Amino acid sequence: MVKILVAGFKGRMGNTTVKMVLDHPGFELAAVYDPRAKEKNINEIAEFSDLDVPVYRELTAISCHDVDVWIDFTSPKAVFANAKFALQNKISPVIGTTGLQDEQVAELKKVAQQTQTGGLIAPNFGISAVLLMQFAQQAAKYLPDVEIIEMHHDNKLDAPSGTALNTAKLIAEVRQEHYQGNPDETEALPGARGANYQGMRIHSVRLPGYVAHEQVLFGGPGEALTIRQDSFDRSSFMSGVAVAVEKITDQHELLVGLENLL
Ligand SMILES: NC(=O)c1ccc[n+]([C@@H]2O[C@H](COP(=O)([O-])OP(=O)(O)OC[C@H]3O[C@@H](n4cnc5c(N)ncnc54)[C@H](O)[C@@H]3O)[C@@H](O)[C@H]2O)c1
Repeated sequence: MVKILVAGFKGRMGNTTVKMVLDHPGFELAAVYDPRAKEKNINEIAEFSDLDVPVYRELTAISCHDVDVWIDFTSPKAVFANAKFALQNKISPVIGTTGLQDEQVAELKKVAQQTQTGGLIAPNFGISAVLLMQFAQQAAKYLPDVEIIEMHHDNKLDAPSGTALNTAKLIAEVRQEHYQGNPDETEALPGARGANYQGMRIHSVRLPGYVAHEQVLFGGPGEALTIRQDSFDRSSFMSGVAVAVEKITDQHELLVGLENLL
């Protein structure tokens, strides 16, 4: 049995993750963590009344004995401290929270190396998003003019999405940085052309009703290609999280991207 702590369990993704962990025959829910929690034990919540799982509200209060894997769906402000704490205590982090900066990822990689602890940061656990990123990287070799549109629910804190940024980084590995659009273009409204990542424009849409969606648009002389993925329900991320949990304790470094474990 893999013993799991779910950080951010009061949130949308954390709640879905708790249910996945409880339903998985190989996983045991060892603890949950969320500063928003009022309970001391998860059995104070009606739907979990038959369980006995400690609830933590502060990082320093967490007892690390009996925890193998730390699943994190929290916030861009919390994720770095959480991931560092897990690695320092030799708990393998499986990080779904987006918004980590490149320097923070580099520091976490060092801590993982020092403690010889495996971990994963996955901007997207959905298989359709992982495939979209791979297909987009392949297409960019032939169609180097690309714009990305990501669409999310209006409670999302970070922009652009981790998936959009990761898509742009993967594309940047295979194409020359170059300016796109008319060199003389102007913005009548600032931001109209979107964020700029090495010449690629990224547009972030936030609307109620959406979950997580992304389109990568390629244009060439006389032709265009659009690759699109849609996550309609948070359960779509759970098979990827489960795979990561199953495989992560065999690793001894911090990996970025679910494709590294598939
Ligand atoms: N990787 C993926 O596949 C994937 C998919 C969906 C969402 N996400 C990301 O997951 C994160 C959470 O999304 P959500 O929609 O569940 O958000 P949410 O706001 O519903 O939930 C976040 C929860 O984290 C809690 N929290 C805040 N600080 C914390 C801390 N220090 N420690 C523990 N918990 C803390 C909050 O109280 C809240 O309950 C976001 O960064 C989102 O972009 C990733």
